[in-house]
Amino acid sequence: MICILLVAGHGTVLETQIKSDETGLYSHLSGVPKALLPGIGGKKILDFWWETVNMRQLFTEVYLVTNADKYKHYERWATATDFPVENVINDGSTTLEDRLGAVADLELVVRSRKLQDDIMVIAGDMLCADQNFDIAQVIRFFRSKPGELIIYYELEEGEKSSSRGIVEVCPDSHRVTRFLEKPQEGRTASRLASVVFYCIQRDTLSYMSDFLNQQPQTTGRTFGQFWEWLISEKQRHVFGMKLPTGFQLIGQVGLSDYTKWLTHYSTKQQGSPAKPITCRSYARVGLMGNPSDGFNGKTIAMTIANFWAEATLLDSQTLVLVPHPLNDPTEFGSLQDLFCISRKEGYLGGLRLLQATCKKFYQFCSKQGIALTKQNFTLKYDTNIPRQVGLAGSSAIVSATLKCLMKFYNITDNDLPKPIRANFILNVETDELFITAGLQDRVVQVYEGLVYMDFSKEFMEEHGFGSYTPMDMSELPPFWLAYLSDPSDSGRIHSNIRQRWLSEEPLVIEAMRRFAELTDQARTAFRDKDWSRLAQLMDQNLELRRSIYTDDCLGPGNLKMVQLARQFGSAVKLPGSGGAVVGLCLDQARLVEMRQAFQEAGCVFCVISPYNPSASAVGGQH
Ligand SMILES: *[C@@H]1O[C@H](CO)[C@@H](O)[C@H](O)[C@H]1NC(C)=O
Ligand SMILES: *[C@@H]1O[C@H](CO)[C@@H](O)[C@H](O)[C@H]1NC(C)=O
Repeated sequence: MICILLVAGHGTVLETQIKSDETGLYSHLSGVPKALLPGIGGKKILDFWWETVNMRQLFTEVYLVTNADKYKHYERWATATDFPVENVINDGSTTLEDRLGAVADLELVVRSRKLQDDIMVIAGDMLCADQNFDIAQVIRFFRSKPGELIIYYELEEGEKSSSRGIVEVCPDSHRVTRFLEKPQEGRTASRLASVVFYCIQRDTLSYMSDFLNQQPQTTGRTFGQFWEWLISEKQRHVFGMKLPTGFQLIGQVGLSDYTKWLTHYSTKQQGSPAKPITCRSYARVGLMGNPSDGFNGKTIAMTIANFWAEATLLDSQTLVLVPHPLNDPTEFGSLQDLFCISRKEGYLGGLRLLQATCKKFYQFCSKQGIALTKQNFTLKYDTNIPRQVGLAGSSAIVSATLKCLMKFYNITDNDLPKPIRANFILNVETDELFITAGLQDRVVQVYEGLVYMDFSKEFMEEHGFGSYTPMDMSELPPFWLAYLSDPSDSGRIHSNIRQRWLSEEPLVIEAMRRFAELTDQARTAFRDKDWSRLAQLMDQNLELRRSIYTDDCLGPGNLKMVQLARQFGSAVKLPGSGGAVVGLCLDQARLVEMRQAFQEAGCVFCVISPYNPSASAVGGQH
């Protein structure tokens, strides 16, 4: 691959304003071409691009195209920075009026140097917010696609789409379906702006001369027009890749733009390294319909603030995943201590969850054409979610880690929409770590709050995910939660429901249909705030579960907790796969007595504090 840096533009407006600036602050920059102005961190704008592409293993040659007016500046820059001076090409133009046009500049290098290879073209005078992205990832994505590649970014708020080349990109195939050069307001809803940063296949280079022959006017020789022509007239396959960053100083800009964006990006850069990113995800309770989520049913579940997992990510020199002192022990008091800990907790800490999430995240971004910064980080986690009692502790760690990664790499909701994110988290666990798990937990941890979920077959097959609706959380009744303090002794045996469901056993199919029905009834009870009805439905949910899973499967520990709750007249059901129970007791006095009884029976008991994301945004929970 060959890289061509274009700096042949005449930065007339900026230069004139620098020359006539009366503050004197910019007098030393008078006559300096735009690409050689100071960029972020004191480096020249072009230095950054040269550092990014100066990689022998990626590019066989790097060329620079400039104009006759500024040639001397670039020649001097080349000798100072070890850029091959013989690769600086002069297009002969001296003013904005006699410019060749960007496509003609590119064609000039290709023709005069007889280049016969794939090329990457970059405008070397753009300011890029992320000073550390991975150019190798761009090339890999280009090579994986049968066509050209256009880099784009998402416009910041306030940036007008009429100031850029806007692309419409198919989210599945990543094909650029339309290219609109500076579209007027309303012509497209897309906020994806393309910049002069392309990969072009060697066989496509000849199209440039065809295009230029049809465009004798310089004003028509912009890349925007070239792409419009290539996509709509020549029907070439062009793909898009997103860089989660911003680009500025494109084309003719003024001094105020230069100073504004330089300050904007520089403060962002300085702001980021010191500040760690911390994200929380919460444990959840399945309030109705579980476990039908894995069987095309419907469920209602809720995140609870009592228990959470937290991931923390900070910039660092090298990439490090930090083991948790309690959950990933590597030092022990003695061999006997190691024996006891391993017997009780097994070998599966949280570190593997961090690693698997990072792996899948990279894979996802590569496949989606999202380039990532090369900045290394240190990632650690903490959690207070009790283990092995079915409160979705593993997926909370995955989900918190994913939140951190998204923030760090500036991946937005549009890049990884919520329903897809829930699938992503499930896949980390099922594909990478072979943990059996259902979709409901991940959905409620991504949406947060109280969520109604419909996993109907038709909808799932069409969309690849279910239909998810957040519900009102005001004035919820006091749910309680109890769990076994030593769940490893619960004596549960594995159920065969999945096989029976796959072989379409009528009893199981009917039960799943009934779970879904209970969920719809519960949704109504929530809406009407009819808590005694909800309590009834919770009991029915448990009985239905018992009828198909059998008591052997539920295990003596779970049954003991169920019986205890019923002695105190409380509704009760399993919030997850077992080891804990969730209940609803409308009689306050009996709730207190029941709590004592549970504690005396060796269980941990707590009153649930629902986690409501919209309330916490105001209250500042995290
Ligand atoms: C993240 O991306 C958004 C839009 O894509 C942008 O507005 C924002 O400034 C970016 N933030 C950083 C830190 O790059
Ligand atoms: C990330 O860490 C590795 C060593 O673990 C190092 O070689 C590499 O240069 C680092 N990357 C950056 C961008 O600092």
